Amino acid sequence: MFPVQRGRRLRRNENIRALVRETRISLDNLVMPYFVVPGENIKKEILSMPGNYHFSIDKLIEELKEIEQLGIKSIMLFGIPERKDEQGQEAHSKRGIVQRAVSEIKDRGINLTIITDVCLCGYTSHGHCGIVKNGVIDNDATLEIIAKTALSHARAGADIVAPSDMMDGRVKVIRTLLDEHGYKDTLIMSYAAKYASAFYGPFREAFESTPAFGDRTSYQMDPPNIKEAMKEIAMDIEEGADIVMVKPALCYLDVISKAKERFDVPIAAYCVSGEYTMVELAADKGLIDRNKAIFEILISIKRAGADCIITYFTKYVAKILRNP
Ligand code: PBG
Repeated sequence: MFPVQRGRRLRRNENIRALVRETRISLDNLVMPYFVVPGENIKKEILSMPGNYHFSIDKLIEELKEIEQLGIKSIMLFGIPERKDEQGQEAHSKRGIVQRAVSEIKDRGINLTIITDVCLCGYTSHGHCGIVKNGVIDNDATLEIIAKTALSHARAGADIVAPSDMMDGRVKVIRTLLDEHGYKDTLIMSYAAKYASAFYGPFREAFESTPAFGDRTSYQMDPPNIKEAMKEIAMDIEEGADIVMVKPALCYLDVISKAKERFDVPIAAYCVSGEYTMVELAADKGLIDRNKAIFEILISIKRAGADCIITYFTKYVAKILRNP
């Protein structure tokens, strides 16, 4: 017998496999997204994203107390406004849904890091992420409103603001406005390489943000491009982003991996609604093992180089980690 290289020795039993495991999932790096709506006593399941809910602020607080106990450390907040209009005014209102939710969460002493999604698409009647002029999304007209929105979130107590609009120059405008108002310690997590993806489908139903005309391809990135992603990320870092995000995650693991090699800032990855719902539906049908699929997906995103992952699986994972 020739001298066989015995790679299998490292996989002999679970203890040895654990000893040499290269990547691990920890709640330290997972962020659970939530959708908050006006009203009281509301906890309504989102049909396109089973296991996720529209929460009114009071019910959200109950939920957050629960997940704090589970060991979750960070959440991302999306607000669904009372009223939508052309300019997305409620996005930066002091009494807006996100602003009220954040300040109540902080007032209750809930010790979670709050990341707020900063965008207009949920707040505009046309559902685009910016101001529309003559049928096109006007970049520079959008910047001021995006920055005002970020500032209003910081004032309410957001720890991290996360602009997801993909307008050029927004990180710079946000950083400048935050600094001018004394919010020097508020972090910016920019959705730096956000692709125009089919995998946002279930989210748009949850967020009521499907564009009324056209699509988002004039501002979100074209899926075939990776060099352009590096350029977008470099620009956002240059403008002052503390953390840069690649979104979605699974179809873009190469982008995450390249970004990790190239840049010295933390890389976040957003495992989006479509990625979540595909697994849930397949698992419900008994076609895949839910646990294994979820861990395999999250591990792959981490292995690719993501430092933190925004994922709707966070609460599920927290329960599994507690009771394996
Ligand atoms: C808003 C925003 C979107 C998501 C996060 N922020 C939707 C979009 O760009 O259409 C997607 C999240 C998900 O699918 O889970 N701009």
